[in-house]
Amino acid sequence: MRVRLRGSRESIFRLARSGKWTGWFVFCWFHELIDFSSSTMSKPSKQATWGGRFSKGPAELMLRFSESVSFDQRLALFDIQCSEAHSAMLEEVGILSSQEKEAIHAGLADLRKEIQAGEFVWDTSLEDVHMNIEQELTNRVPEAAKLHTARSRNDQIATDMRLFFKATCAELEAGLKAVLQALVDQAEKNQSIYIPGYTHLQRAQPVSVAHHLLAYAEMICRDLTRVSAVSDQANWCPLGSGAIAGTTLPIDRESAATKLGFVDSEGNPRVTQNSMDAVSDRDVHLDFTYACSLVGIHLSRLAEDFILWCSSEFGFVDLPQNFCTGSSLMPQKKNPDAMELVRGKSSRIIGDLQTLLTLVKGLPLTYNRDLQEDKPPVFDALEQTLMSLQVVEGVVSGLEMNAGKCANAVSDPALLATDVVDYLVEKGVPFRKAHHVIGALVALAEGNSVPLNELSLEDVQGVDEHFESDWVDCFDVEKALKAREKTG
Ligand code: ARG
Repeated sequence: MRVRLRGSRESIFRLARSGKWTGWFVFCWFHELIDFSSSTMSKPSKQATWGGRFSKGPAELMLRFSESVSFDQRLALFDIQCSEAHSAMLEEVGILSSQEKEAIHAGLADLRKEIQAGEFVWDTSLEDVHMNIEQELTNRVPEAAKLHTARSRNDQIATDMRLFFKATCAELEAGLKAVLQALVDQAEKNQSIYIPGYTHLQRAQPVSVAHHLLAYAEMICRDLTRVSAVSDQANWCPLGSGAIAGTTLPIDRESAATKLGFVDSEGNPRVTQNSMDAVSDRDVHLDFTYACSLVGIHLSRLAEDFILWCSSEFGFVDLPQNFCTGSSLMPQKKNPDAMELVRGKSSRIIGDLQTLLTLVKGLPLTYNRDLQEDKPPVFDALEQTLMSLQVVEGVVSGLEMNAGKCANAVSDPALLATDVVDYLVEKGVPFRKAHHVIGALVALAEGNSVPLNELSLEDVQGVDEHFESDWVDCFDVEKALKAREKTG
């Protein structure tokens, strides 16, 4: 049984505070026996936009639970752009007079300025960015009551987000290009520094630092291709799909799309082809967050390499001090926190992708309010990816390779054992046999406690007669790397 309390909220609180009834009151509150949404206690809905069929407004809890303006206000400028194009199109087809359109545009221009100046007051009781803007506009410009003709917040939010994705893909591309440049610069600077390349985190074969850094440049190039594909996917205009089934009004979708820049390379409008898909499709959100996740993963692997390289055990690199931190206890410490955070942030971005995947997977067509939850993970993925890119750019640009430590690590002749196999192969020994022979030499060197290249000619000829005195030339790292002249 639920109890409806009559009287103002204040008088009920007074009763509760009087002491005698406190226990009962708390019990009822806790078990939700008191219905605060009774008509005597809630104001009529502020929602002029959808409040018509309601006799009482939403519970305060419902307002707090359902508002999105605290995070979707960042779409405000895209929303205004969308309203400008929509109203201009409505005028073209004769739904708005030119005076009405002008009044709406002037009002939108004022709102844009106030929002940009941070002066606009957002009201969570108006739910979202669309309602806040439209209601404030209508308060000032009565003609704006016609603005929502032939559109719904469902096609509006889909359009706003596509505008957002197009703009932010450009930001991501800029961040990726900055990292790419930093990698190429460092590769150029360190072309003649060699280090061991690793497989299974065991020293494998010598490589140049440039080779290693440019592996990441390849990943960033693929990221750029991916981000550009996301931007292309975003470039379809859903406006005009209405809530689900379009509109009976004589709108011109192509005109609105063109005004918003949803056009192909020849300037032809690109409009979505199925209104039910258009209002419920979140593929671009997923593509975008997947692209961010992969950027995050690439940066995380780079971070992991640098974390290893700056340890005393490797010592290959000095990371720039302005991206490292110290220890509050151990005065000698210089910790690679920036790189550790890049590694950590990637988990967070992958989590954003996971949120979106599970958000969408079980939804029946078409729009469901769950979809409002699509924005926080997208915004978070964007922010963390952009910041990670900036940090990695800073670290890569400021790092110093430690030439002595690198030379020392790469000096182990065993790293060139595979090149000695190639030496025998060139002399006609079958690869499988040559591999076995060099394996035997490695064992022999280990047994004699000498480096591989210090085995005597007699010793090596004793294992295979194809060896000649030039076999030791195999251990020249620079020559070995220069011999690799094929693409890749
Ligand atoms: N704030 C909403 C969202 O982001 C906009 C669409 C609301 N549509 C609706 N039918 N309630 O999803």
